[in-house]
Amino acid sequence: MAGGAVVAGGEGKEYPGKLTLFVLLTCVVAATGGLIFGYDIGISGGVTSMDSFLRKFFPEVLSKEKANKSTNQYCTFDSPLLTIFTSSLYLAALVSSFFASVVTRVFGRKWSMLGGGLIFLIGSALNGAAINVSMLIFGRIFLGIGIGFANQSVPLYLSEMAPARLRGMLNIGFQLMITIGIFAANVINYGTAKIEGGWGWRVSLALAAVPASIITIGSLFLPDTPNSLIERGHPEAAKEMLRRVRGTDDVYEEFSDLVAASEESKMVKHPWKNILKRKYRPQLTMTILIPFFQQLTGINVIMFYAPVLFKTIGFGDDASLMSAVITGVVNVVATFVSIFTVDKLGRRKLFLQGGTQMLISQAIVGTLIAIKFGTSGQGQIPKGYGYVVLFFICVYVAGFAWSWGPLGWLVPSEIFPLEIRSAGQSINVSVNMFFTFIIAQVFLTMLCHMKFGLFYFFAGWVLIMTIFIALFLPETKNVPIEEMISVWKAHWFWGKFIADEDIHVRGDHVGSADLHAKA
Ligand code: BGC
Repeated sequence: MAGGAVVAGGEGKEYPGKLTLFVLLTCVVAATGGLIFGYDIGISGGVTSMDSFLRKFFPEVLSKEKANKSTNQYCTFDSPLLTIFTSSLYLAALVSSFFASVVTRVFGRKWSMLGGGLIFLIGSALNGAAINVSMLIFGRIFLGIGIGFANQSVPLYLSEMAPARLRGMLNIGFQLMITIGIFAANVINYGTAKIEGGWGWRVSLALAAVPASIITIGSLFLPDTPNSLIERGHPEAAKEMLRRVRGTDDVYEEFSDLVAASEESKMVKHPWKNILKRKYRPQLTMTILIPFFQQLTGINVIMFYAPVLFKTIGFGDDASLMSAVITGVVNVVATFVSIFTVDKLGRRKLFLQGGTQMLISQAIVGTLIAIKFGTSGQGQIPKGYGYVVLFFICVYVAGFAWSWGPLGWLVPSEIFPLEIRSAGQSINVSVNMFFTFIIAQVFLTMLCHMKFGLFYFFAGWVLIMTIFIALFLPETKNVPIEEMISVWKAHWFWGKFIADEDIHVRGDHVGSADLHAKA
């Protein structure tokens, strides 16, 4: 159908165009923004378990740990002071994502990515060279600001660049890079922990400069998205960009839809005030609840504290670090499952399947630990038994890696209309960072008090979020990003929040009946 959008399997429009090498390359480069986030998630836990690091910066923690003769396995590692160091970064990221929102909207997505990379680079230099705690903390704050900028802009960039029918796959490149970052950090910690002389932690922290340089240099070469070019008043450049990324001259339909979306967005002067309007209630709810739920899966208990957790269940030092490496591999490999299925099966099926798998495996892990340690925390886990626990933890990580992990970044980035997309994404980042912070802060204390019940606690949340998705999240696969309103309008619950005149198709206002007839 020349010059026109076609209906794709009853799910939405499909614009002409193919997956070009150009769009693939730009998306791969942009996705590397996920490396800095992942690297940090993976590196902190390992570094803070190195004696040489503790001796230099947190000697009181080390002496407390050494003096601890408690046989209660659940409480051995309860030291809040140290977790403040780990989690300060998340507060910095939380705040900076709001500043990033302005840069992303006014100057374009690419400058936020560049800024994020540069600031992270400064942070890694300060951390690697740290001679006192203030340098360490300042470094953490810079790292956090960098992550706030990257996480705010990269998912938006990917969702806008990608053709609708491959948006899921290309967006998940971001999550893939996060998992690669975590894995690389685990392996590096495994190596640097063995360095004699006590400066291994310096290598771990300084190497953050590698992913930071990749995204900083990469973003210099990235073009801006057509959506952002139009939004900032460069329609001709946008049309040219659309031709390049879609690999066809036949971009009239998509271009005029982008222009229509941009016209509409110009009527909105204050995104932050507007986002509170009734018609945006569905998207606002999702961009708050999805990151909240993502963190309440409990995934970062594994990502931050895997070595500690494995030590708790009786693995030795080396085996614990090795087990963290194993969960890291599972995390990367399982992400590919979502890459290849998200645009075919859709978001909902992955959420529901992954949620169920996580729920079951968490309940099993909780029970296995309960059988050995009970509520007293006294006991020993035999090796074979430990490996069974490790296996179910891997099943859990895999479930996360093809559901809440990637979808927690994909879905919020694709559901907002242009005028409030950037603001919506900062809410997503800040809620995510806030709850990452909370989990990092309280996990060790929770383990000490809730014992094996902690796993049931997270399983309970996974049950709630899975039911929530089943009832309230409409399927968004293959729907062009600027047409997403139709999906909300058609939803049994959210439909009533959107009036007929809120729906805008190809520059003219139509009623929802008309829209359904078209889609
Ligand atoms: C989450 C992180 C998590 C990571 C694990 C990401 O999607 O936002 O908090 O550590 O996945 O792979």
